[in-house]
Amino acid sequence: MTDVLTPVLTDNWGDDRSWTLDSYAARGGYEALDKAFAMAPDDVINEVKESGLRGRGGAGFPTGMKWGFIPQDNPKPKYLVVNADESEPGTCKDIPLMMASPHTLVEGVIISSYAIRANKAFIYIRGEVLHVVRRVQRAVQEAYLAGHLGKNIHGSGFDLDVVVHAGAGAYICGEETALLEGLEGRRGQPRLRPPFPAVAGLYASPTVINNVESIASVPSIIAHGHGWFSSMGTEKSKGFGIFSLSGHVQRPGQYEAPLGITLRTLIELAGGVRDGHELKFWTPGGSSTPLLTAEHLDMPLDFEGVGAAGSMLGTRALQIFDDSTCVVRATLRWTEFYKHESCGKCTPCREGTWWLVQTLSALENGQGSEADLDLLLDQCDNILGRSFCALADGAVSPITSSIKYFRDEYVAHLTEGGCPFDPARSTAWAGQEVNA
Ligand SMILES: Cc1cc2nc3c(=O)[nH]c(=O)nc-3n(C[C@H](O)[C@H](O)[C@H](O)COP(=O)(O)O)c2cc1C
Ligand code: SF4
Repeated sequence: MTDVLTPVLTDNWGDDRSWTLDSYAARGGYEALDKAFAMAPDDVINEVKESGLRGRGGAGFPTGMKWGFIPQDNPKPKYLVVNADESEPGTCKDIPLMMASPHTLVEGVIISSYAIRANKAFIYIRGEVLHVVRRVQRAVQEAYLAGHLGKNIHGSGFDLDVVVHAGAGAYICGEETALLEGLEGRRGQPRLRPPFPAVAGLYASPTVINNVESIASVPSIIAHGHGWFSSMGTEKSKGFGIFSLSGHVQRPGQYEAPLGITLRTLIELAGGVRDGHELKFWTPGGSSTPLLTAEHLDMPLDFEGVGAAGSMLGTRALQIFDDSTCVVRATLRWTEFYKHESCGKCTPCREGTWWLVQTLSALENGQGSEADLDLLLDQCDNILGRSFCALADGAVSPITSSIKYFRDEYVAHLTEGGCPFDPARSTAWAGQEVNA
């Protein structure tokens, strides 16, 4: 069973002090950098294009193509910005990666900056995770001391400075243009596009913004070649990715596997769902990706397969919920998160997420009538596609998908006058372990 996994980014996580430069170098760390320096920057871009790597931050945009959008005839400085904000509920891959192997990211930053001809790069880390900020800061310091950063790196003539920036703690700052606002010292709110960051991003200069895992995948692509990477995965979703299993499985954790693996296989690898329980629903890529159910266990987990099932691969944050979970309560918790994290810039999201919480809370308490379910869907309809950024679209995903698959459970809250999963209210769950 374990040969299904393809540990590349996670391969050294179990090593002694895997986060140190010594440990990383002992496995050939920073050798891909020399290989990249022996290539022309455009050839590095082409190698990443040919590999088929698609952004690991959620949207799946082709990474090499994004780099190719940087106008090299623009005289302004070019910037690379690594999005390490990781705040989506359920998403937990970039933080362990930076903790266990920050040098994989730093080497990726240097190669990527060389490719797009940026002499300054920023790693924007979610501010609450101070231990991660410190670990990446130390790795950057080690890289400077060893001559992997700074002036004339490895005698290549290429200079690069890296700034590790701690955000102030807002989910919206993971949205790439809000992140740029934050980096420039302003309140983190999304920018109107166009212009796109590739043309006018940080300080109105051409900027590439990529997810941690996207950039950390680059050294292995350069080291082994695009054919090695594209031999894994599926036709349009190449390579491997970190699948984060959390919730009701025996062994939650990070499982690095080719795109296209199924949830059934991943749950088997994770030791199965908790004893005595069955899978009820799950998120394929964090809470902003529509819920799926046990009927989707054999669906390929790639961009196309999950899209065809009406959801999104997102960040491969597989949150597993078994039959002891009230889907209405779980959905209310997520909705409260989105209401709290709405940046307030646009009305449908600012006001709408507040109303979603009001309507959902009443339903969860068994108040109202079935017409309120349609009211809830109408509220979602007035938010989806009518807001300024994708935070609001994500906010309605758990609601519309949970009603699609579990309408009866919403109705049961009304007929029972409260949550049927509440042991104090219902005898149906007597003796069972309930996650209220
Ligand atoms: C509300 C919101 C939060 C986001 N949070 C993150 C995040 O924490 N990390 C991330 O890489 N991308 C996040 N994204 C996606 C980014 O806007 C962007 O697409 C991504 O950083 C691009 O990198 P990639 O092409 O390597 O995937 C978020 C998007 C939205 C709308
Ligand atoms: S959709 Fe929400 S988070 Fe995005 S700009 Fe509007 S208020 Fe802000």
